[in-house]
Amino acid sequence: MTTPPIDLSSFRPDFTAVIIGASGGIGRALTAALSTHPQCGRTYAFSRSGQVSGFGDNSRVMQARMDVTVPESISAGFDACGDNLDLVICATGTLHGAGLSPEKSWRQMDADAFAQAFAINTTGPALVAQQALGRLNRSHKSAFAALSARVGSISDNHLGGWHAYRASKAALNMLIRNLAIELARKNASALAVGLHPGTVDTPMSEPFQSNVAEAKLFTPQFSAACLLNVLNGLSNNESGGLYAWDGQSIPP
Ligand SMILES: NC(=O)c1ccc[n+]([C@@H]2O[C@H](COP(=O)([O-])OP(=O)(O)OC[C@H]3O[C@@H](n4cnc5c(N)ncnc54)[C@H](OP(=O)(O)O)[C@@H]3O)[C@@H](O)[C@H]2O)c1
Repeated sequence: MTTPPIDLSSFRPDFTAVIIGASGGIGRALTAALSTHPQCGRTYAFSRSGQVSGFGDNSRVMQARMDVTVPESISAGFDACGDNLDLVICATGTLHGAGLSPEKSWRQMDADAFAQAFAINTTGPALVAQQALGRLNRSHKSAFAALSARVGSISDNHLGGWHAYRASKAALNMLIRNLAIELARKNASALAVGLHPGTVDTPMSEPFQSNVAEAKLFTPQFSAACLLNVLNGLSNNESGGLYAWDGQSIPP
């Protein structure tokens, strides 16, 4: 698949971007795309380690630590970014790891796993939005986006399973709709959306790739370029929705 050209002309020239989760497969590709794009002046790239390789010699990338489960680290990070932010993307998330594995049955549901999924996939983006939304540019188009997932759509759920992940993403989608309603009252230039990146070849999808056709498994670069083009094309009357990598609106 060929990575498409990225159009960010709906944002102001020399705009400021913030990526949270810059160490992830998609977060890193978003950071790389923004850090070389002529329309983007600077990118704050946050990760848990505070040091993602590959951006060290790019003076347009400012790296720092942020853990979305630690509110103080989120507020300190955004204090460093200042105001008039144009594009904030929360690219963090979890599906599997220590103590967390996508459930095939209700028998596998576990309270600690639910708490972990919701802390990272729902509360984390909420706390990021709490710091980001009031800092969005009021004079030019600005956007807050959280990477969500199509599996968080209730009406699109025909397969079941993955209880904690699906529920945490459905809750994230509701949160984004709620925040967009409040944002519209406070900043007419801003929008808040959820994004579905497609099935992307990253550590998150790695254990589940065997059933995915090669043409449907996107590179992080392809997905990141598509998502940035979607954000470029959205206007604030589309705020609150969940949009796929190809711009398609996904029903709640
Ligand atoms: N890949 C797909 O096929 C796919 C499909 C649908 C939706 N998504 C969504 O896209 C987003 C990005 O996924 P990905 O595929 O890029 O996954 P990934 O490569 O596993 O990256 C996940 C990112 O989240 C970060 N993270 C996890 N917990 C964190 C915390 N407490 N604080 C700060 N950062 C934290 C990780 O940081 P560390 O490096 O420090 O662990 C990493 O940067 C997720 O929300 C995911 O649900 C992905």
